[in-house]
Amino acid sequence: MIVTIDGPAGSGKSSTARAVAQRLGFRHLDSGAFYRALTYAALQAGIAEERWESLDSAALDALRVQARPGAEGWRMFAGDNDISEPIRSPQVNARVSHMARVPAVRGWLMGRLRAAAADGDLVTDGRDMGSVVFPDARLKVYLVADPRERARRRLAEHGHLAPGEAELAAEVARLLERDRIDSERAAAPLVQPADAVVIDTTGLSFEEQVARVVELAQRRR
Ligand code: DC
Repeated sequence: MIVTIDGPAGSGKSSTARAVAQRLGFRHLDSGAFYRALTYAALQAGIAEERWESLDSAALDALRVQARPGAEGWRMFAGDNDISEPIRSPQVNARVSHMARVPAVRGWLMGRLRAAAADGDLVTDGRDMGSVVFPDARLKVYLVADPRERARRRLAEHGHLAPGEAELAAEVARLLERDRIDSERAAAPLVQPADAVVIDTTGLSFEEQVARVVELAQRRR
């Protein structure tokens, strides 16, 4: 059984997907982590952003991006370097949408993401997991939340628990810019799949949003 969770930046997809997978005894696949890892690895390899459009599969292979199982879920590697922390940095946040809009990058990842579903039940999250990668998923969820709430959660994740108005506004602007690029791109844009269940998490606690998805999944099982 495949459960997909898509939605805009900062809507809580990955943390929800991880908790839902744990609750159901499914594996979790965070597709955004691969786009982030490719972005970080390309920057580290000194491949300028202007050249990302022309990356081919050999160049992407050469970055040696890989997910390996760790004690608390998957860790992302570039070669033998564990890059799980730096792929969440502001530097990567600001550039990952530019990597994700390159059709060759999406094609390269498609096979890897589908292969990950071959060995069993899966909860996976991203932008196009329900619309493109797993169109036959048993349950598709689309998470939305008010931009200010998303910005507040994103800042809290990075330890800013009481942001000022200016800091919050700047984070809202960054999230909306990323949503704009992800929604307007030609290749597999962020869309709400017609058969998805939409959950607005603005007023929900984390526990409540996890419980809703778990309940939906159990009903569809
Ligand atoms: O979910 P996230 O913030 O980790 O995603 C990082 C970026 O990767 C996001 O800006 C869009 C892209 N992405 C995508 O295009 N398709 C996916 N299935 C997952 C992520």
